[in-house]
Amino acid sequence: MKLSQLFLLSSILISVPCIGHAETAFWKNTSLSAEARAKALVKVMTQYEKLQLVASQYAVDNGSKHLPIPKGALGSAAYVPGIPRLNIPAQQITDAGLGVVNPNHIRPNDAATSLPSGQILSGAFDRNLAYEAGKMVGAEAFHRGFNVLLGGGVVLSRDPRAGRNFEYLGEDPILAGNIGAAEIKGVQSQHVVSTVKHFAFNNIETNRKKIDMKVGEKEGRESDLLAFEIAIKKGNPSSIMCAYNKVNGDYSCENSYLLQLPKKDWGYQGYIMTDWGGGHSTVKAAKAGLDQESAADQFDNKIYFGKALKEAIAKGEVPQSRLDDMAYRVLYGLIQVGAYDYPAVKSTQTEDIAGHEAISQKIAENGIVLLQNKQNILPLATSVKKIAIIGGKADQGVLSGGGSSQVTARGGNIKDSTGIQTWPGPISYFPSSPMKAIQALVPEAKVQFAKGNNIVEAVKLVSQSDVVIVFATKWSAESFDNADMRLPGNQNQLIEAVAKTGKPVVVVLETGNPVEMPWLNNVDAVVEAWFPGTSGGSAIANILFGKVNPSGRLSISWPKSLAQVPYPTITNVGQRWNEDDPVKEDKPDLSGITTFNLDVDKANVGYRWYQDKKIMPLYPFGYGLSYTTFKYTKIALNNNLSVKNPTMIAEVTVQNTGKKDGADAVQVYGTMPSDTTSRLLGFDKVALKAGETKTVSIPLDLQAVANYEPKAHHWELSAGTYTIVVKPDALSNEGVKAAVHLNKMNLAD
Ligand code: BGC
Repeated sequence: MKLSQLFLLSSILISVPCIGHAETAFWKNTSLSAEARAKALVKVMTQYEKLQLVASQYAVDNGSKHLPIPKGALGSAAYVPGIPRLNIPAQQITDAGLGVVNPNHIRPNDAATSLPSGQILSGAFDRNLAYEAGKMVGAEAFHRGFNVLLGGGVVLSRDPRAGRNFEYLGEDPILAGNIGAAEIKGVQSQHVVSTVKHFAFNNIETNRKKIDMKVGEKEGRESDLLAFEIAIKKGNPSSIMCAYNKVNGDYSCENSYLLQLPKKDWGYQGYIMTDWGGGHSTVKAAKAGLDQESAADQFDNKIYFGKALKEAIAKGEVPQSRLDDMAYRVLYGLIQVGAYDYPAVKSTQTEDIAGHEAISQKIAENGIVLLQNKQNILPLATSVKKIAIIGGKADQGVLSGGGSSQVTARGGNIKDSTGIQTWPGPISYFPSSPMKAIQALVPEAKVQFAKGNNIVEAVKLVSQSDVVIVFATKWSAESFDNADMRLPGNQNQLIEAVAKTGKPVVVVLETGNPVEMPWLNNVDAVVEAWFPGTSGGSAIANILFGKVNPSGRLSISWPKSLAQVPYPTITNVGQRWNEDDPVKEDKPDLSGITTFNLDVDKANVGYRWYQDKKIMPLYPFGYGLSYTTFKYTKIALNNNLSVKNPTMIAEVTVQNTGKKDGADAVQVYGTMPSDTTSRLLGFDKVALKAGETKTVSIPLDLQAVANYEPKAHHWELSAGTYTIVVKPDALSNEGVKAAVHLNKMNLAD
């Protein structure tokens, strides 16, 4: 048979929904592209199979309120049955970005490693670590039989109260996009789909299921959408989760501007799924570009895909080609990460628990931020005799964030019986005690604990000690924002009282956001440990005693108070929408806020807004101390300014000028012609021995200094002189500069 005849025959065979011969099943041929294989599969699928592929079912058994777990499901955020005749695996879908979540908490063996919060991962300024983080979580997901992971989040942190900032990667699009991309690649290296979320502008949780985020196209493209663009183009996630909120009048999951953007402008081939309860229509959503409805049986007003989609297609309201495209995209996503060729099966092998916990710890050690260190009180000497540890359940563990990303640690979480007991609670601590880790580092020292609720008792203990370490906590969770920036309860009074004893005071914060620190001048050192993950206790101890030199930086500006932020007053902030109810379109809106206009910070999120308004926050983006010092001695630019694809690399020479080995987060910023504000263009983490000098090459993302032109539909660099500077943080006046003159040019898509 001639080759052309062979092709003809095979195309006839695959155009009917049956498999004639094994050799026609060339979707099994791993040497073909994911695109070709997915297309071939769609051709042989029945309508029923396609419809099945694009709607997931809820798979958590939460008792009688919920439907039973579907047959075959492992019991997680959602499930789609497989299609055995075509070797299409079941989609076992699990949360989320910080680690594998076991929502049932019924199988002790399903406990997992949790990464530290997103502020730590981004604050490490280290793509390699982000890749390792994703790879570890991906491996744990695969090991448990999951092939779709509902993380990572790259929504920009625009407000220091936002409930999910701990799941996101800070306020800067270049940092969030690049760290997100590396994490996505890590997850997908394990044959597990990564889901970038929540697309888009899910910047606050207040009334998240109804709020309409208003933002101009240019401002949107240059802020949150830029983070998504970078994460999607560089990370190539198989899946995107559209957000709960509306954007400019339309729900995200039926918003054709949003859903077409990745597909049309960014070359995105994967699929877009709804958030749980984010589906609102059949025809509108399908035509806008939604590809999969998630857990609709439990969360949406009704099931919009499934039977309703079938009928809409039969009536010609949704073209058949749209369903084919949805199915194609899901299959492409599964094939491109290897989930098709390497089906995830719950493994009976032991996993490398120590190795995984070590990765989580390494990330915490690289991302925890030393904010203040008067007279170099830290690192503490191991010869210290008596240490008082106060508060924060530090004798037992470290705080974690609440909601769908809540991981159950090995050994079980320690639950706070006093706070909220229902979802997104209870407030949970991972059993990694900083106090125990400290005692292990200084076995000779007398380490004593006071809970902190009784200030008199705490002060008594402190006065008998050589140094006090106060652990102050503030919980954040999905589904609501913090009402303010204050440390809850008596913690401020406690710290003031302890500081009055005159003993050296170290404050360790475990918070989901920046907090006000009215006692700052009265304490010696402050360490922001965010939510430091399942090995957080050891990471904190190692930093306090100098086993590790802190190198984390702030990935979110730290305002002095809410008076400094772009949106000081948000109506009903801190209140919680009843998350157990599906969103009823006809339900009166109880939250009091239905529109949120991003017209104050616009594209100038975080430090760019502070620069613009000439406000000095308490600590700027990029800030963080070390036990050593660094100096930049040179910056040189290596340009290829071709009109089609201009690229720029900064060669930065950095020196460790102190006496200790350490690592610097090298940050390169750019200022556009006739502008005064600088924007992060590139970054890297560089380890330097005491006295060592290194030159590092940092690729710059020029979109940060380009204008998105909505009418022309492109990114444009204006003509003029750009200042490129390497400096210790976003608002610093120190640093070394270079200038480059550019002609007006467009950036390639
Ligand atoms: C969250 C998502 C999560 C989903 C599934 C939703 O409430 O917003 O981030 O992946 O639940 O648990």
